[in-house]
Amino acid sequence: MKRAIFFCLFLFYMSNSMQSPSTIRSRFPIFAKYPGLAYLDNAATTQKPDVVIEGIYRFYTEENANIHRGIYPLAAKATALYEESRNKIQVFIKAPQRQEIIFTAGATAAINLVAQSFTGARLKAGDRVLITAMEHHANLIPWQMVCQRAGAELCIIPMNAAGTLDLQAYQSLLSPRTKMVALVHISNTLGTINPIEEMIDMAHHRQIPILIDAAQSVAHYPIDVQSLDCDFLVFSGHKLFGPTGIGVLYGKTAHLETMEPYQFGGDMIKDVTFEKTTFAGLPNKFEAGTPNIAGAVGLGYAIDFLHELDRNAALEQLKALSDYAHEVLAGINGLRIIGTATRKSAIISFTMEGVHPHDMATFLGEENIALRAGHHCTQPIMDFYNIPATIRASFSIYNNKDEVDRLVQTLKDIQTFFA
Ligand code: ALA
Repeated sequence: MKRAIFFCLFLFYMSNSMQSPSTIRSRFPIFAKYPGLAYLDNAATTQKPDVVIEGIYRFYTEENANIHRGIYPLAAKATALYEESRNKIQVFIKAPQRQEIIFTAGATAAINLVAQSFTGARLKAGDRVLITAMEHHANLIPWQMVCQRAGAELCIIPMNAAGTLDLQAYQSLLSPRTKMVALVHISNTLGTINPIEEMIDMAHHRQIPILIDAAQSVAHYPIDVQSLDCDFLVFSGHKLFGPTGIGVLYGKTAHLETMEPYQFGGDMIKDVTFEKTTFAGLPNKFEAGTPNIAGAVGLGYAIDFLHELDRNAALEQLKALSDYAHEVLAGINGLRIIGTATRKSAIISFTMEGVHPHDMATFLGEENIALRAGHHCTQPIMDFYNIPATIRASFSIYNNKDEVDRLVQTLKDIQTFFA
């Protein structure tokens, strides 16, 4: 009897601790609604686990009030939840201080804040800002705008045909004129994993501050801003299994303290008269107005969810799936993978002879297979490869081999259809 009980407990433990993509998948309600959905558009946004959805529902049904203002219990509760989420993010990316975590509307808003308030405020004619040839428009246009305004030069770190950055060229662009480097960790289009550790060191060797766009990496790769020693790091919540409309700027206190606020309004002030305003300290001076409270709280639950997982195992599974997908896709006649760097994440862009990526995406959509087609907000990458668009499969922790096989079979059917 005792043995039977132990055996049952063992089975219970195993079934709860095992972390196959299907166990993980069962935590995402959208797949209960659409069991046949092969969702391969995770670079655009991830699906949301039960704890995030339930947490947001609970917030609006039981905990909703504005923050940092009311002193009644509900307001205190909402404030505590919001600030607790900041603590979770601090621990998640190993920031030394909680005031270095600024809630923004997303990665884009975080980059704009740094471009305007940090770099834009210092930039002079003849200075340089460096970005890479594979930046998302969000990490390109804000720098282009501040450079244009100051008469500074936006310099591009080139890449080769595989989608690997040229570090020698990067080295030669680091000069006394260079005032900022802004660099994507993982390209949303090519999947290239850039050597950010080395590139941060190279910039710091010249005392040049550097911003890392971690939008595509933070969900899968451990991020430690202290060991990276980056000056700024940004990411959005919705690619991290959290809600849309919330993102994070991490910045070193020494930099954040020198920066003027980017937006002005309520909750970011110390004193206001008609003549003059003094601003609140960090982090509030960068969080003007009522923020996305439920979004911040939901992002905290997404981070709790990640802590529940064996992240190393999840990453290994994702790598194995990505390797398999690369191999079988490369085996399709006429299919060209765009982005073949040695260090790649689970993002595969491709074209197929004779079929426009949008036609492929439409056809795949009919088969319940979700992929994004287009320029992926990286038009300079399309220009570099001289193509109008790609179709992109991007994987996450709930995807599996069967979905890759369905994708491959449907691509072959598309070829036959368009032949
Ligand atoms: N940046 C997102 C993507 O790559 C929207 O699709």
